[in-house]
Amino acid sequence: ISKRNGINMNNLNFLNIYDNENQDERKDVLKGLNNKKQKKINSKYFYDDKGSKLFDKITRLNEYYPTKTEISILETQKKIINEYLPSAASIIEFGSGSNKKIKKFLNALKNPIEYLPIDISEKFLFENAKDFAKIFPKIKVTAICADFHQVDQLREIVSKKKKKIGFFPGSTIGNFMPEKARKLLENFSYILGNNNYLVIGVDLRKNKKIMENAYNDSEGVTAKFNINVLERLNIEHDAFFNLKEFEHNDFFNKKENRIEMHLVSKIRQSVDIHNRKIDFQKGETIHTENSYKYSKEEFSLLSEEAGFKVKKVLTDDKNFFGVFFLKVKVKKEEIK
Ligand code: AVJ
Repeated sequence: ISKRNGINMNNLNFLNIYDNENQDERKDVLKGLNNKKQKKINSKYFYDDKGSKLFDKITRLNEYYPTKTEISILETQKKIINEYLPSAASIIEFGSGSNKKIKKFLNALKNPIEYLPIDISEKFLFENAKDFAKIFPKIKVTAICADFHQVDQLREIVSKKKKKIGFFPGSTIGNFMPEKARKLLENFSYILGNNNYLVIGVDLRKNKKIMENAYNDSEGVTAKFNINVLERLNIEHDAFFNLKEFEHNDFFNKKENRIEMHLVSKIRQSVDIHNRKIDFQKGETIHTENSYKYSKEEFSLLSEEAGFKVKKVLTDDKNFFGVFFLKVKVKKEEIK
């Protein structure tokens, strides 16, 4: 697949507009690790090949309820999905995760005509799109390699589609601080345009033990997933983390309404990265992930602040997870 070259396969089109000129991973990682108050690594760095496979394993764990719950909602509430969302729509997926959820979602919709997954990872995007195109030969697939922040280009591309439904499952929105989450929702509303829909999965706040166990499973898969980010830095960033000298920790931060994952330094140590040294006290941590948990009301408010109207919220019988149907409602004076 060559960059900026459209390729064509039956019902499958591939578009690469990804502009990563401003992404300096090295600088970003070093900056986070040099933070005086709290060392940090952005959770987006979890997802190299091994990390993505470990995450997939997490989704099948007993303790990790979000994926199972969301899938069961999409599966069992087809009627409502069908009733509330437009027919003959183009489905725009922000991030192309596993094909499992989009398949369930499309099966619930009336006559979807096109599927447009957007992702920065060309490899995953293409593999998933190909797989999808085989299973749904009647649906046109246009895979777009891009970053969600390329809003003007994305808006331009999807503006040709009549009815649009954005799809952002998995509670990925939970990784962003509320302020950033609102910004991201604003971007989605801008890309989709007035009167179109966004279907978004959100993990809901619940019993603390249940949330904490979901991020610290008994098999230790989440611990491996967390530690893997250091292995990635060792491989891709000439770092020298001794993986045995760090351990996984997670807790629910009640004040901020989020699960936090950290890597705890078991000893006092100094680690080389890019020929620089990062010093750790014994017990000092690297903050690797936030996973915000919302109430229905809080997330509805956030969506409304970002220019959406909440049309429907689907939940499971335990109220563990919410699938929000949002409709873009831009005030008249804001329409460009
Ligand atoms: C993929 C971001 C939704 O926050 O639950 C799972 C990632 N981290 N276990 C989440 C994750 C640890 C997951 N998201």
